Amino acid sequence: MPKPVALAVAIVLGAAAPPGTASDGLALTPPMGWNSWNKFHCEVNEKVVRDAADAMVASGMKDAGYQYVVVDDCWQGERDAAGRMVPDKERFPSGMKALADYVHSKGLRFGLYSDAGEFTCASRLGSKGHEATDAKSYAEWGVDYLKYDWCHTEGQDARDSYGLMSRALRATGRPVVLSICEWGSTKPWTWAAGIGQLWRATGDIQDCWDCGREWGGMGITHILDLVADLHPHAGPGRWNDPDMLEVGNGGLTLAESRAHFSLWALLAAPLMAGNDIATMTPEVRDILLNREVIALNQDPLGVQGRRVFDGGHNEVWMKPLSDGSRAVVLLNRGTDTMAIRCRLEDIGFAATQKVAIRDLWAKKDVALENGAIEGKPKSHDVVMLRVTPVD
Ligand code: GLA
Repeated sequence: MPKPVALAVAIVLGAAAPPGTASDGLALTPPMGWNSWNKFHCEVNEKVVRDAADAMVASGMKDAGYQYVVVDDCWQGERDAAGRMVPDKERFPSGMKALADYVHSKGLRFGLYSDAGEFTCASRLGSKGHEATDAKSYAEWGVDYLKYDWCHTEGQDARDSYGLMSRALRATGRPVVLSICEWGSTKPWTWAAGIGQLWRATGDIQDCWDCGREWGGMGITHILDLVADLHPHAGPGRWNDPDMLEVGNGGLTLAESRAHFSLWALLAAPLMAGNDIATMTPEVRDILLNREVIALNQDPLGVQGRRVFDGGHNEVWMKPLSDGSRAVVLLNRGTDTMAIRCRLEDIGFAATQKVAIRDLWAKKDVALENGAIEGKPKSHDVVMLRVTPVD
């Protein structure tokens, strides 16, 4: 077993707020919900979406904070004579207003997907040239969240295109969260605050721990490394989005799923479940419903956690919380169980600070080990702790 690590890292607490961060009071904590894409891709229809809304309530996800039910690509049909988008009549025969009403009747919020280009990534019709008409339809249907993609946008300027839809949504008078999805290609963290409330920071997530795919999709650890340094740009109403969750889709072990969920929570990432929540196993449900982990994701301070130690296979991540405590993730990227240690100074406390430590997956209180925080995560697993100062 490798030797425990000692850390000496300067911690700067609190994210600097860039100018122009107005978010209309929307998404002051990272959005939580469910999106159809990762599991269903184009095999989405109104029954799948109603079942997801039902399951969000029945599974306890709604009570735990999950809110948005989002239909991704492939709901679109044709435009009518007035240029209005008509949903695919086979997949969504009842129409989007009825579906939004159903979702709202469960006390949840409804989301849709479109694209800033002429076509979506799955070659359905996009919103280019129809921004105001589409925004008006969304408002009439009762849409609360729009994921706006970036396929087929050759020659378009991202800031202009997202600004156009942002203004069109605002003009309707309905508060709609705008989820910017241009995969980090134009560094949206430098311009998108005030236009949308979250922005994808990377290419598409893949249901695997550390794989990469030639066309740009990637596993959990690749995404983690890409978003690690973006923490100064996040805050209430302006979130880096490392893409939707793959927990429960079969490609990750339970340990990897736990690590994925823990790290996304610590990154103040949107927590959008991407699995079939109507049929998920109790083990998957227990991951998505860990309220102590969700609580630190939803902490009102809204600081994205950061890596404070990188030992190659052993990493320490830390997120400051509004009550003065710190969330800590001890991540084991190696192939064997290993002890990972960090000192109180390494997470911004005085060495003499008395602390209470809660292990958020073991769900028990633990103590310092020889004056340090210590955990022994298994391969591709984490130990996640909440470290709270006590007088
Ligand atoms: C892009 C997005 C995905 C998904 C698909 C739909 O790849 O990044 O999240 O919305 O399009 O076609």
